[in-house]
Amino acid sequence: MSETAQLKIGDKTYELPVIEGTEGEKAIDISKLRDQSGFVTLDIGYKNTGATKSAITFLDGEVGILKYRGYPIEQLAEQSTFIEVAYLLIYGNLPTEEQLKAFEYEISHHTLVHEDMKKFFDGFPSGSHPMGQLSSLIGALAAFNPASLKQGLTAEEVNLEIIKLIAKMSTLVSWIYKKSLGHPVIYPRNKFDYVTNFMHMTFGQRTEDIEIDPVVVSAMNKLLILHADHEQNCSTSTVRIVGSSDANLYASISAGISALWGPLHGGANQAVVEMLQKIKEDGGDVDKWVAKAKDKNDSFRLMGFGHRVYKNFDPRAKIIKKACDDILEKLGVQDETLDIAKKLEEVALSDPYFVERKLYPNVDFYSGIIYTALGFPTEMFTVLFALGRLPGWIAQWKEMKTNKEPIGRPRQIYVGEVNREYTDIKSR
Ligand code: CMC
Repeated sequence: MSETAQLKIGDKTYELPVIEGTEGEKAIDISKLRDQSGFVTLDIGYKNTGATKSAITFLDGEVGILKYRGYPIEQLAEQSTFIEVAYLLIYGNLPTEEQLKAFEYEISHHTLVHEDMKKFFDGFPSGSHPMGQLSSLIGALAAFNPASLKQGLTAEEVNLEIIKLIAKMSTLVSWIYKKSLGHPVIYPRNKFDYVTNFMHMTFGQRTEDIEIDPVVVSAMNKLLILHADHEQNCSTSTVRIVGSSDANLYASISAGISALWGPLHGGANQAVVEMLQKIKEDGGDVDKWVAKAKDKNDSFRLMGFGHRVYKNFDPRAKIIKKACDDILEKLGVQDETLDIAKKLEEVALSDPYFVERKLYPNVDFYSGIIYTALGFPTEMFTVLFALGRLPGWIAQWKEMKTNKEPIGRPRQIYVGEVNREYTDIKSR
């Protein structure tokens, strides 16, 4: 007989199935609890709620393990390319040479976006945040792809939308950057691989092909891989829940981009660099800022520190910290904020406040320093996170569809007024 949990409410006992994942994670299945007992469970912020069964990403936050489809993140970040990892996440296995070639070919031949999409850039006020632009542009792709709105798309039709989205997102992200400078956009070139093409559209010129340093391409691949998926986080849950209403892929991803924007989530990479710059301008007194982060009457938090799931080192942060040293050295970049970041980490990691709460640097703590070294302005950082997270969002959306998950619709415990009588406006 399989394991069950017993829940006793008053004099009644309910048997609840216990389910176990392939990595030994255990859950109590309460999906029938309300029908059986009239009770729902309450878990604000979903701190203890499994929203789905997923075969894409596994992470053990107590130990600091992250795997995509069973492959350790360390191996993928060291040996793979972003496009290969995208294939792995979306289709479940590492591609053969032939599959990878076909995937890259398909993507490179869909990178052009409809010329009319350029008109959006005339409407965005100058200086508008790249994340607001990106979520609007990705949502608008549905309008340019009406076939994607049809219900009951075949697997091939869905796949075509997936390819188009991966391809066009890189073009749109680079165009957002070019437009922020008031420069003409650069069109994609099929001869380049995905990351080189992205860097070419972002930093290239119209008149000639510039040399993209392989060190830069490799750093960018690594950063995108490290951001590619992170199981049921805020933006991914948003993508799945929007998609569960049968909303199209573009609408679902656009919603995920909005969720990622917040500084508690993907927006932290921008917030970290802004914080480091502030500390630098303030004289670099790290102890003062650590004290501020600990002070409950001060709203300041150490950005890039802490994580809902990791109660040990975020394995992505370890890889990025090392990459940060390597890349800055290779590019010959000196960055004072890197020294401040390292000092901040050292002070925080030996401070009982951070130790007791198991607060470690997360993926965003060092990523912004690399983005700066590669030439990106601070406001582009979260957009780069979105570019990296795209295959994960797509894989999760596809899994949710394939498993025919029901519409996402949590319950609540109502705590408002009861039975009030309407009164005329003059008597209130
Ligand atoms: N600085 C100072 N104190 C902190 C921090 C921080 N960065 N993070 C958490 N704490 C404290 C918090 O005040 C609380 O203390 P107490 O128990 O005394 O009330 C305790 O640690 C637990 O924090 P929490 O807010 O209940 O934890 P959470 O799981 O709800 O929040 C978090 C996780 C990531 C939102 C939070 O750690 C945070 O705000 N960090 C800074 C923002 C950041 O770096 N976000 C990027 C996350 S990684 C990228 C991604 O995947 O999104």
